[in-house]
Amino acid sequence: MIMTEKTRYKYKGKVLVAGATGRTGRWVVSRLRYYGVPVKVLTRSAEKAKALGDVEVVEGKIQNEEDVVKAVTGCTAVISALGSSEVFGDASPGEVDRDGVIRLVDQAAKAGVKHFGLVSSMAVTKWYHPLNLFAGVLSKKFEAEKHLRDVFGKDGRSYTIVRPGGLKDGEPLLHNLHVDQGDRLWSGWINRGDVAELLVVSLWTEKAKNKTFEVINEGEEEHRQDSLEPYYDKLAS
Ligand SMILES: NC(=O)c1ccc[n+]([C@@H]2O[C@H](COP(=O)([O-])OP(=O)(O)OC[C@H]3O[C@@H](n4cnc5c(N)ncnc54)[C@H](OP(=O)(O)O)[C@@H]3O)[C@@H](O)[C@H]2O)c1
Repeated sequence: MIMTEKTRYKYKGKVLVAGATGRTGRWVVSRLRYYGVPVKVLTRSAEKAKALGDVEVVEGKIQNEEDVVKAVTGCTAVISALGSSEVFGDASPGEVDRDGVIRLVDQAAKAGVKHFGLVSSMAVTKWYHPLNLFAGVLSKKFEAEKHLRDVFGKDGRSYTIVRPGGLKDGEPLLHNLHVDQGDRLWSGWINRGDVAELLVVSLWTEKAKNKTFEVINEGEEEHRQDSLEPYYDKLAS
């Protein structure tokens, strides 16, 4: 995409990225910076966050309310790419995908944040999905989604929930995407860069507000995209 004044500086506020040092979170930070948006990150490791470049860093855990309050203060939007990696403990699905996201949603609303973007997952409504053998991860994500819709779907706030298929490391804007609603898809892949791009453009794309949707690549061939904003035309609230 060719950078012009039209494509840059579309969003005026500051965005908190939770899970910013993760494989999707890094893409969220990089796309925000591409569009010239000021970024704050909540990370367990300030050392790891150095690789993210020029961002404001709050070192802390999603379990700690004080850290979360510090992170959301002064931000107009939050994008969460948090994800669990252990069955038990601080990085378990209950602690991170459900309670961590719920804490972030509540503190963001209290701090006056206007928009919340969430990386969720395809199949979150399917309690019988094999991925739930990992400490009920999909069901935990679904509980967090419901809370986000309750809190940010009113009072002048908004949300965008992206439910990707399997994540691959890769750039945004290289593939046609297939978007769907109602959690009907069972398989498919998508580049982490595209998941990040969809959430970043949701900050200024009115038709992205209050949408929950699944997304995968449409085929493996490359089809360079100018913008992912048109995919939001196809979605119902
Ligand atoms: N893998 C797939 O195919 C797939 C498919 C659909 C959806 N998803 C979902 O997509 C999301 C992003 O996936 P990903 O692969 O980018 O995840 P990832 O690389 O594992 O990153 C997860 C992030 O969460 C942070 N985190 C974990 N516990 C935390 C805590 N207690 N406090 C603060 N931060 C914490 C990690 O911080 P550190 O860097 O400090 O560890 C990391 O930044 C996840 O929710 C995942 O479940 C994944």
